Amino acid sequence: MLKKALEGILSEKEASELYSAFDQVGDIIIVRIPDSLISKKKIIGETLLENVHPARSVFYQATPVAGDFRTRSLEILAGEDNTQTEYKEYGCRFKVDVEKAFFSPRLSTERNRIAQMVQDGEVVINMFGGVGMFSIVAAKKKKCTVYNIDLNPEAAKLCDENIRLNKKLAGTVISIHGDASQVIREHLHDKGDRTLMLLPERSDEFLSSAISATKSGGIIHYYSHQHADKRQDAVQISKQHYMEVTLVKSEILGGRMVRAVGPRYYQTVVDVRITK
Ligand SMILES: C[S@@+](CC[C@H](N)C(=O)[O-])C[C@H]1O[C@@H](n2cnc3c(N)ncnc32)[C@H](O)[C@@H]1O
Repeated sequence: MLKKALEGILSEKEASELYSAFDQVGDIIIVRIPDSLISKKKIIGETLLENVHPARSVFYQATPVAGDFRTRSLEILAGEDNTQTEYKEYGCRFKVDVEKAFFSPRLSTERNRIAQMVQDGEVVINMFGGVGMFSIVAAKKKKCTVYNIDLNPEAAKLCDENIRLNKKLAGTVISIHGDASQVIREHLHDKGDRTLMLLPERSDEFLSSAISATKSGGIIHYYSHQHADKRQDAVQISKQHYMEVTLVKSEILGGRMVRAVGPRYYQTVVDVRITK
């Protein structure tokens, strides 16, 4: 339907470029528009609003995800200028703000993978927890305790709201606003059975804090970005990288390519058991 609606506005090649560059979050559409199509951004926005359901707002992503908070600037193209919406995943409800706090629908498979691995009774430390997506999806399924830490006050506030929105969790999520290293140093040393490090650009910088947070015998999920000529080599490259930078005895349990983040550039995760 969308393809048909864009006929006459975009060439077939332009339309296919556009499809791979749009995300739908609840009733919000976010579209990245190549420079060659900027002059057509308004009509693209209006066409998406009319043809994608449910859609209340279409935003143009004016800057890449950047800065400490991993947020982006959005420009309204069509519909209501409101960046908050509700998103549902694995039986959980989330209030998200697609401009003020990091959120990606593209991590949903990874959230489920982590939730499957968490065991009843575990303490999980989510160092860069955002609005609580990984934490709440895990606590929905397992009787775990999750510390969801985030430096962005908007993310921590939304996480608090999301904990209230999801009343029937098997486990408990505690939202903490602050710097992960400082929170761990002051309150969470040796507390975690499992630690998540989803700030892939800066994992090496925070690895010593992740190790400090995790008990001996606990698991760290180490996310990073790796260059690889071949997609299938990315995970092996990140395992080697982890082994070069780690500060403790580590057994690699597994790993996967989470998503491509650029040409020959991949977000990967390595799951490791550490011994201190
Ligand atoms: C890539 S996002 C991941 C968010 C969340 N795990 C998710 O998948 O929705 C990284 C998050 O780390 C937060 N962050 C950046 N530096 C931090 C720090 N020093 N301590 C705690 N959180 C931090 C950002 O605000 C952002 O929400």
